[in-house]
Amino acid sequence: MKTIKISLKSNNERGYAIEIRDGLLGKLPAFLAKMHKTQRLFVLTDSNVKKLYGRSLFQGLLSHSLDAWLIDIPAGEQSKNANLVDLLHTQLLENGVRRDSLVIALGGGVVGDIAGYVAATVLRGISFIQIPTTLLAQVDSSVGGKVGIDHPLGKNLIGAFHQPSAVYIDPTVLRLLPDREYRSGLAEVVKIAAALDASFFRFLERNASKINRKEIRVISEIIPRSIQLKAGVVMKDERESGLRKVLNLGHTIGHAVETASNYGLRHGEAVAIGMAAESKIARDIGLLNATDFDKLSRLMKALRLPTSFPRLVNRKRFFMSLGEDKKSVGGLARFVLLERIGCTAMGIDEPNPFIESVFASRPSRPKRLHS
Ligand SMILES: NC(=O)c1ccc[n+]([C@@H]2O[C@H](COP(=O)([O-])OP(=O)(O)OC[C@H]3O[C@@H](n4cnc5c(N)ncnc54)[C@H](O)[C@@H]3O)[C@@H](O)[C@H]2O)c1
Ligand SMILES: [Zn+2]
Repeated sequence: MKTIKISLKSNNERGYAIEIRDGLLGKLPAFLAKMHKTQRLFVLTDSNVKKLYGRSLFQGLLSHSLDAWLIDIPAGEQSKNANLVDLLHTQLLENGVRRDSLVIALGGGVVGDIAGYVAATVLRGISFIQIPTTLLAQVDSSVGGKVGIDHPLGKNLIGAFHQPSAVYIDPTVLRLLPDREYRSGLAEVVKIAAALDASFFRFLERNASKINRKEIRVISEIIPRSIQLKAGVVMKDERESGLRKVLNLGHTIGHAVETASNYGLRHGEAVAIGMAAESKIARDIGLLNATDFDKLSRLMKALRLPTSFPRLVNRKRFFMSLGEDKKSVGGLARFVLLERIGCTAMGIDEPNPFIESVFASRPSRPKRLHS
């Protein structure tokens, strides 16, 4: 069992532990029975995860005499919407939610984001725990307390900061994860390494074929290392007023691509495309050297991550979403760009010609940002 402690600068009482252990899911009912005996528990999951793990977790909770409810939402990004939040609020209220009730988010990032947002808003906020079941959720979305939903105008535009009271990770649930979802999670792993840690990046380079074979020994190293790195940033800047922005590497273009594909792309796929495009911009403005640009491109290729804009990305919607990005200032997209592997430069505004050029995949003219 690995335990990572998160203590938040703003308020130590709101710190929590992330437990990582093979086979943990099967042991959770007995464990939760000790901690949450008197609480009403609402297990929120999606239609796929309900069949794989939701029902058995729920039965386990009931068999330990816990007062538990199981609620599922349709699987997929389309579920992160205000109507569904309203429906979930209604279900919780109709089933006697109280201030001391607990929401249990069992699933990928979609479940974690929406369940966390429901927990943050019902009765002005109740506790929740995360049991992430995709690689993306285990390495990224379950850590850091960002919860929320999408808006027709863009990704994750409605939300809150609401920290979980615990995160329980069982890497063995990744065995049944479809390859596409696994690679989507790998995109966030590459982002974390590229943005924050050159030695973790080299680990990924050295182990690319083992990662592709989903070797559990390597995955079991990747999960805590990614979490440690993300947690290190979140602990210093919980509310993204500065440092935390480094985690948005690839996400300015990534979110716009995701929205403009009408969510036909997985989040991680859009992030990979965003990272490839943003690193081209960084190279073309003379910020990122060619060697590191090539390293990133090679690793992304080795891990079979998408790097170019697919046809389903609607051009008009792409540029519209880019201007509406949370990070944009005065309609100008604001980027976190790679300076070298393990280091980013923040808050660089880029004029549209560079984005136009990556969108059209035309070679762009090298130009320094500051000459
Ligand atoms: N809050 C944050 O900080 C943060 C960070 C990164 C991403 N996100 C959000 O996370 C979401 C993407 O999350 P995701 O990639 O986990 O997608 P997801 O939650 O849609 O899960 C992907 C698919 O895998 C299925 N699944 C889940 N666990 C499984 C398992 N163990 N075995 C088999 N199938 C399984 C799901 O049913 C779903 O069909 C996006 O909405 C993104 O915005 C949030
Ligand atoms: Zn992301």
